[in-house]
Amino acid sequence: MAKREAHYTDYLPEILEVASREGVLLVVEGADGRPNAMTIGWCTVGVIWGKPILTALVRPSRHTYGLLEKAGDFTVNVMPADMKEAVNFCGTKSGRGHDKFAEMKMTAAPSRAVASPIIAEGVIHYECRVLYKNDLPDDVLEGPIRDAFYPQGDYHRIYYAEIVAAYADEDVRERISGP
Ligand SMILES: Cc1cc2nc3c(=O)[nH]c(=O)nc-3n(C[C@H](O)[C@H](O)[C@H](O)COP(=O)(O)O)c2cc1C
Repeated sequence: MAKREAHYTDYLPEILEVASREGVLLVVEGADGRPNAMTIGWCTVGVIWGKPILTALVRPSRHTYGLLEKAGDFTVNVMPADMKEAVNFCGTKSGRGHDKFAEMKMTAAPSRAVASPIIAEGVIHYECRVLYKNDLPDDVLEGPIRDAFYPQGDYHRIYYAEIVAAYADEDVRERISGP
């Protein structure tokens, strides 16, 4: 099905809802040309430097972290309700030991403006170019947050990325609201 260009705010409620529920898939291409998909639940979308920016938080322990450090871009893909198993797989298995695209029968398709591919089976897509990143400094985090989310350290790196393209399938709302 053809994907229609969208404004980055067109599906914002859907993206944030799915991200906070089962997660959305961040895809980055490795230096060897192989893409890896990782589930993210934490992200924000807004305006910084006069540009539409998505921030994603990635822990150093993730395979994705090493790939992102070299790649400089990524895509964010909202998957349909009937692919929850793939989203769960990508959030519990590492690309270090798995080819998640092959195992979950997902298709890497060329992006429009960045090198990292999208997942063809997704229903909403953002293409993102990293402009800035910083690490969460533990000394300024509120104690309860530090205790709840960072008992082992592994503090997230925050990637601030410009949304350079956004597009979606026609029937997004029906396909993400399944059981
Ligand atoms: C619902 C859900 C949301 C998640 N959100 C994040 C996140 O925002 N940042 C992060 O670093 N890990 C997050 N994770 C964990 C990673 O997806 C998981 O560790 C994954 O196996 C890492 O894959 P990789 O090693 O191939 O990069 C999440 C997992 C799930 C199930």
